[in-house]
Amino acid sequence: MNIDLLVVGSGFFGLTIAERAAAAGRKVTVIERRHHIGGNAYSENEPETGIEVHRYGAHLFHTSNPTVWEYVNRFTTFTNYVHRVYSTHNGQVYALPVNLHTINQFFQAAYTPDEARALVKEQAGEFDVKTARNFEEKGIALVGRPLFEAFFRDYTAKQWQTEPHKLSGDIVSRLPVRYNYDNRYFNDTWEGLPTDGYTAWLERMADHPNIEVKLNVDFFDESQPLSKKALVGQLPIVYTGPVDRYFDYAEGELSWRTLDFEEEVLNVGDFQGTPVMNYPDADVPFTRIHEFKHFHPERKDVYPDDKTVIMREYSRFATREDEPYYPVNTSEDRAGLLAYRELAKGEKDVHFGGRLGTYQYLDMHMAIGSALSMWRNDFGGDA
Ligand code: FAD
Ligand code: NA
Repeated sequence: MNIDLLVVGSGFFGLTIAERAAAAGRKVTVIERRHHIGGNAYSENEPETGIEVHRYGAHLFHTSNPTVWEYVNRFTTFTNYVHRVYSTHNGQVYALPVNLHTINQFFQAAYTPDEARALVKEQAGEFDVKTARNFEEKGIALVGRPLFEAFFRDYTAKQWQTEPHKLSGDIVSRLPVRYNYDNRYFNDTWEGLPTDGYTAWLERMADHPNIEVKLNVDFFDESQPLSKKALVGQLPIVYTGPVDRYFDYAEGELSWRTLDFEEEVLNVGDFQGTPVMNYPDADVPFTRIHEFKHFHPERKDVYPDDKTVIMREYSRFATREDEPYYPVNTSEDRAGLLAYRELAKGEKDVHFGGRLGTYQYLDMHMAIGSALSMWRNDFGGDA
């Protein structure tokens, strides 16, 4: 077989490895189980409106890592989009992350930063972080009961489909509250959306004569030639699928949360006036609504002015059949992960990477950064 490297999975991790290896003269084959490249960052234009929709949930690029920023700019330019999120609670709209504007609106006051800090500190005195027995007590210990109940309690409970007092305090170490009027969602040096969309960016990474991408190919399907059974030990493999699946769940299943998306094309020019509106209240079943045209205000002459695409997002525990999105990370999961890491060490020339292969939440810039590190450390290449 005329391949120097097999990459399993065409998300940002797999494509970064493939691109670097191809540039270094290696012949790379990328196999991808889905019918498209790009993993969860994949986007496509909704056919009726032409509006770019992020198929696996809204993706905003941001980084403070100069190496990653220089690298990604080889494949795409970025718009000057700045992410902001609002929240509809009890029929009123507030700015997120919870900041001085949110606090003053919520308490109908005009507190200075120090006054707001003192108020929250007093309210947070109801419980102590060190002795809090569950998520509810810990949340109150962090930001006080009023803000916790309004903006964090039911939102988090909906994300986990679990009552707040049954959630572990371990799921939060801090809750974001800002004592100024800054409502930029991210604090990173660079932020923006790929000018021509995510899929154009991802395709440019794979566009090299040394890279062959094979879609609809599952590494565990032994009826095709590029399977685990046929190739492990035969050539270097970078595996970015789920680590527990690789070992046939020998150490148990690692648990994930998944999301369900409900997409709708509406005959209105502007549904909510902003890209993301959160719904933190218990009586609304979804957690947020995305309106995709607002991610690209610079496309206003291309996008229709009488139609829009919205997506409601629901969150729940994943079964084996669902797309795994966020690691749950219970103590059992952490023990399982350690056992899988031991097994992985014994796999000859198989390199486990990406969010599924290492069971951790990775932003895009982290997936790309960690792939560049693997390329340097395991393959001796340069970024
Ligand atoms: P993935 O993108 O998951 O790629 C893995 C690929 O491997 C998949 O295409 C999968 O089909 C394939 N695969 C798995 N098993 C097999 C197999 N057996 N055979 C063949 N192929 C296989 N990041 C940000 O920076 N900003 C955001 O705003 C942001 N929002 C997000 C929102 C959501 C809802 C989610 C879930 C993630 C978000 N992310 C965001 C994170 C981003 O999606 C990840 O950083 C990125 O997907 C990581 O790339 P990856 O290559 O590690 O994994
Ligand atoms: Na290994």
